Amino acid sequence: MNLLNDRVIWLTGASGAIGAAIAQRACAEGAHVILSGRTIEKLDTITAKLISDGYSAYALHTDVCDQQSIKTAFEKILNRYQRIDCLVNSTSVSAFGSFLDLSDETWLEVIETKLLGYMRTMRTVLPQMKAQGSGAIVNISGRSARQPTTTHLPGACANAAINVLDKGLADAMSDYGVRINTISPGPIVSERFEKLQSMTAGVTGQKVQQFKQAGTPEDVANATVWLLSDQAKHITGTVMAVDGGATATV
Ligand SMILES: NC(=O)c1ccc[n+]([C@@H]2O[C@H](COP(=O)([O-])OP(=O)(O)OC[C@H]3O[C@@H](n4cnc5c(N)ncnc54)[C@H](OP(=O)(O)O)[C@@H]3O)[C@@H](O)[C@H]2O)c1
Repeated sequence: MNLLNDRVIWLTGASGAIGAAIAQRACAEGAHVILSGRTIEKLDTITAKLISDGYSAYALHTDVCDQQSIKTAFEKILNRYQRIDCLVNSTSVSAFGSFLDLSDETWLEVIETKLLGYMRTMRTVLPQMKAQGSGAIVNISGRSARQPTTTHLPGACANAAINVLDKGLADAMSDYGVRINTISPGPIVSERFEKLQSMTAGVTGQKVQQFKQAGTPEDVANATVWLLSDQAKHITGTVMAVDGGATATV
């Protein structure tokens, strides 16, 4: 039995390393996956491959910094599927650098894309999920929320805020059958992580750190699919680390 049979899943950041892996795993578990991101060509390529593999996938260009774009995308989803079962947020912009060099614009771009982007998609789907009496949301935050790195402070602050946002909302939404969980990946082998590594080495003057515990996008995808599924029906408001033990905090 597939874990996500016939579920309608809206996935933002679907053209990223982790997003693409989540799309693949969710499709393989029988879901209808709506893939969202800004760059149409990237989305179309990933979606076309999923469709040619026999899966149910649909590319929907969406900018999470633009409330109207989110509203229009969600209207299209409801027109096409008449419901929404799950939402996964996996967007980010790579804004790494020394604290003294990062501009207000960079900080605002990170907060806009990650924290406010996640907030906006949730605010858009939650009335429908409440009316349905069911729904599952997974937001990808990050280890930096609990163990910040000096070169990734805007992202770390956005991640910490997402952990708080999800916990507060999960408590409020549990009465309506809607679950909200957060996944906190540690280092994940990806273009984004390589950029963070080389930037940190450039700022600290130290060698690029080698992580024994670096995971893969598929590790995050497996945890996401499980949290969305009924196997996790009694789990909400949790922050699940997917980090091979890399987070040195409780
Ligand atoms: N990779 C890691 O090691 C790691 C570790 C911890 C946490 N995380 C978190 O995991 C999530 C995914 O990471 P990743 O490595 O897959 O990142 P990624 O490869 O850089 O992908 C980022 C995704 O976000 C999309 N995006 C950016 N701005 C957007 C906007 N305004 N509207 C819509 N989509 C937008 C991008 O699409 P376009 O390119 O089309 O804009 C892309 O699909 C992020 O939240 C990241 O912070 C990653």
